[in-house]
Amino acid sequence: MSDPLDEHDKAGDPLAVVARAAGPYLASLPERPVHDRAMDPLLDELDGPLPARGDGAVAAVERLVRVGTRAATHSSGPRFFHFVVGGSTPAAMAGDWAASLLDQATGLWLTSPLAARAETVVLRWLKELFGLPAEFGGVLTPSATFANLTGLACARQWWAAEHGVDVASQGLAGLPAMPVFSSGLVHVSTRKALQVLGCGRDTVRTFARDDAGRVDLAAMDAALAEAGGRAVVVANLGEVNAGDSDPVAELAGLAERHGAWLHVDGAFGLFAALSPRTAHLARGVERADSVAADGHKWLNVPYESGFCFVRDPAWLSRAFGAWGAAYLPDSDDERINYNMLGPESSRRARALPIWATLRAYGRDGYREMVERHLDVAAHLGGLVEAAPDMELLAPVQLCIACFRYRPAGFPEEGLDELNARLGEALLADGRVYAGTTTYRGMTVFRPAPVNWRTTKADVERLVDVLRELGARLTG
Ligand SMILES: Cc1ncc(COP(=O)(O)O)c(C=O)c1O
Repeated sequence: MSDPLDEHDKAGDPLAVVARAAGPYLASLPERPVHDRAMDPLLDELDGPLPARGDGAVAAVERLVRVGTRAATHSSGPRFFHFVVGGSTPAAMAGDWAASLLDQATGLWLTSPLAARAETVVLRWLKELFGLPAEFGGVLTPSATFANLTGLACARQWWAAEHGVDVASQGLAGLPAMPVFSSGLVHVSTRKALQVLGCGRDTVRTFARDDAGRVDLAAMDAALAEAGGRAVVVANLGEVNAGDSDPVAELAGLAERHGAWLHVDGAFGLFAALSPRTAHLARGVERADSVAADGHKWLNVPYESGFCFVRDPAWLSRAFGAWGAAYLPDSDDERINYNMLGPESSRRARALPIWATLRAYGRDGYREMVERHLDVAAHLGGLVEAAPDMELLAPVQLCIACFRYRPAGFPEEGLDELNARLGEALLADGRVYAGTTTYRGMTVFRPAPVNWRTTKADVERLVDVLRELGARLTG
């Protein structure tokens, strides 16, 4: 078998292989370990020389599915609490399959009015979901890193224009360094975006008033005055270690007073806007100049999914449009070429899974899911507080509980090493996944339950497994 044309009337067969495996695989997720390292040797079956004659689609896909369903990290199940990793709702997953089925050349309205229209619709729905003004422009991106890059590219375009330069056309040469101010909560992806944009990741100045990184507003105020307002303020809505957030409304006030650009990184924290219990954390985001968030975290859409909104849509096209290639058509209000509003050229129809999941569960379904996760995280915090050998290190905020294992009488100076070893033991065990980080100088756990499947029983399991492994390490 070497030519897909020979299979043109059998294209459904390899899809049927995946569809047949999907039911049992998804049904197994609640109980199976997150990762079974005994399956790792199966990865060898993916390796080997490039075949001269292929196996044919069914055999190739059977092999992929057999290895994948066993050796994957089952992070779409309910007990993967490492990083901030969402799952994939049934509707989003099916929408994603539809995106592959239809394989739209997404970017130009001309090549796919379907994808362009769906992108326009989901961007509108997302603005409604988060309480952002309808006038904001937007674009779907592969991730929050790309969404930060998109928002910060607009900020850079604005800032250079303040210096009389069209940076998209002329570049940064001759300009001073762009001042970027944030709190200690700033995420590495903001730095990475600045690195890619040629602004330099180490140009971010952080203004923190404590070792948790909370913002020092007075110091930032003074720095903004010194910069004459020509600066970019990055507000962080949802920080990865303890779920903390900057006071977005106060940063919006500062930015407005000085005439600075306000970018909000709300990769997962933007979802605070969905519940009356947490909406106060997101207050002020509607005053931002640009807002970045993820679809593959709390929206529970498969990778890769992110989005960026910009108050004045013209900055998106100034930063990313006008390639000037004769074969590319212009956009108008109806026929939007989204590849002129973001960093990618050819793109997949990533609006389709977002459309499917928002259509399936609506605003209420998402509010319920977010509130369930708030409850699950709070429950985890309560379990930690009740455990004699655990220490909660920050109040539970949003979806993150930040704590460490601390058996009675264990010497303080050995706790970092103990928690690091416990983190390794947890991943090797595989029943539950959660990672360690450094928080206020301590090695800690910071599980973040944002998967639609996760319930209180899953975080009870996390605590049980951690205590069991911890006792084994110290016993
Ligand atoms: C606050 C914040 N911003 C940005 C990102 C980057 O997201 P992504 O990995 O989707 O690019 C993350 C990821 O955890 C995050 O937590």
